[in-house]
Amino acid sequence: MKQILMVSSEAVPYIKTGGLADVVGSLPRYVNKDEYDVRVMLPKYACMDERFLADLQFVCHFYVDLNWRRQYAGVFKSEYQGVTYYFVDNEYYFAGNNPYNNIYEDVEKFAFFSKAVLLALPLIDFCPDVIHCNDWQTGLVPVFLKTVMGQDPFYASIKTVFTIHNMKFQGRWMVKEVMDITGLPAEIFTADKLESYGEANYLKGGCVYADAISTVSPSYAMDIATPEGGEGLAGLMSARKNDLYGILNGIDYDDFNPETDPTMTRNFNVITVSVEKKENKAALQRMMGLPEKEDAFLIGMVSRMTDQKGFDLVAYAMEEMLSTMNVQFVVLGTGEYRFEEMFGYFQSKYPDKISSYIGYSEEKAHQIYASCDAFLMPSLFEPCGLSQMMSMRYGTIPIVRETGGLKDSVDAYNEYENTGTGFSFKEYNAHDMMHVIQYANDVFTNHKEQWNGLVSRAMTTDYSWNTSARKYENLYDRLISK
Ligand code: ADP
Ligand code: GLC
Repeated sequence: MKQILMVSSEAVPYIKTGGLADVVGSLPRYVNKDEYDVRVMLPKYACMDERFLADLQFVCHFYVDLNWRRQYAGVFKSEYQGVTYYFVDNEYYFAGNNPYNNIYEDVEKFAFFSKAVLLALPLIDFCPDVIHCNDWQTGLVPVFLKTVMGQDPFYASIKTVFTIHNMKFQGRWMVKEVMDITGLPAEIFTADKLESYGEANYLKGGCVYADAISTVSPSYAMDIATPEGGEGLAGLMSARKNDLYGILNGIDYDDFNPETDPTMTRNFNVITVSVEKKENKAALQRMMGLPEKEDAFLIGMVSRMTDQKGFDLVAYAMEEMLSTMNVQFVVLGTGEYRFEEMFGYFQSKYPDKISSYIGYSEEKAHQIYASCDAFLMPSLFEPCGLSQMMSMRYGTIPIVRETGGLKDSVDAYNEYENTGTGFSFKEYNAHDMMHVIQYANDVFTNHKEQWNGLVSRAMTTDYSWNTSARKYENLYDRLISK
């Protein structure tokens, strides 16, 4: 049995701020259990759902030396849907209402976590063949492993893969402070290792010291090796291109299942969607305080409200769309105040056409994916994106910008060949976005048969982990045989 440890700062169902949690919370269940024992290690945050906190069993404790600091670490354990989860406990680091705080706190918190993960392994009697790290918060795992733990035979044959879910967030902080926090040797804070543009960089460290690097779509793997997408690390990505893999995320087909989803007014499948979706649409319109109009083109958005997600294009085109088109928007999300406020403004001006819910709600997210006609995701950049796949699973047609994983997962509609699963535009431009929304609205309104074809293709295309879990297995195997 091959042993794999996934390390992450979040995973559903325990703690989630974004798609990283969906990925780490689902991939382990789809890896072949006869060949791989995949376990997951997370921080034990005070802000985790209480129902889960109450269920954790204490395993052991030890101390982590971080330079002059000596910090307590507890290990707890739980099982969820057949996967073993470990939790690293420290009430000082993992307190608060959010997994992430200020960067100067987070660099110490995740240095502690990364070292604690490695020190826990002999004590929990699990010696992984591969440690699968995710995002900058786990970047120091390969660094500690290959430097300070390097001499210990327990760790000698462990391989690492570092997955980049978002190149934008690198965990950068002052070199002197990071040296003080980590106690890592001064000679690794150089431009070929941990240093980048005068700062210590956790993501860079992870990428330099890991045996392989992966990211969450083939297109994004290419994007990050270019000056425009590389966020300052394009050179490193190009240098490591033989060890850089782009593996498209999957979504959890059990959690996102239109035939069983308990949040829906009426469940449906690809045969019944055309009848039953209308009921869900009407229910969503009622719930969001919009008039129940079957003919209005209902567009959903569920997103972190940041620049990454293309909200400035939406802000620019919203007035024109609302004043000229038979559309309705339902929006769910939190983030930058200027975007939250923008939706509030349009909602007060066009209460029959737009309704926003500023907040986080799993239930509402599912209802939007299931009930809208279309789903808008005009991202500036998108490593993978899960929302467009969740929408397609429910026959809700994505309208996306052709970037990263959006390009790899949405096949653009071709009216001549009657192919495609969604609509897309190329340039990051508000008018291009609006024109493609108008085009989609025209197909929805005037070419029902073609629209229904889009819906059934979107619903029957495979966005599960079936293919991608095999690719991770191949990557693990390649590392193990190295
Ligand atoms: P990212 O990780 O960049 O935010 P993804 O599309 O990969 O983007 O994943 C976003 C995940 O977070 C999806 O599961 C989506 O449903 C969820 N999500 C985003 N905003 C909200 C919200 N306000 N309420 C509930 N779920 C949300
Ligand atoms: C990041 C990316 C998103 C991706 C998710 C899971 O949050 O922004 O595109 O889907 O990670 O990999």
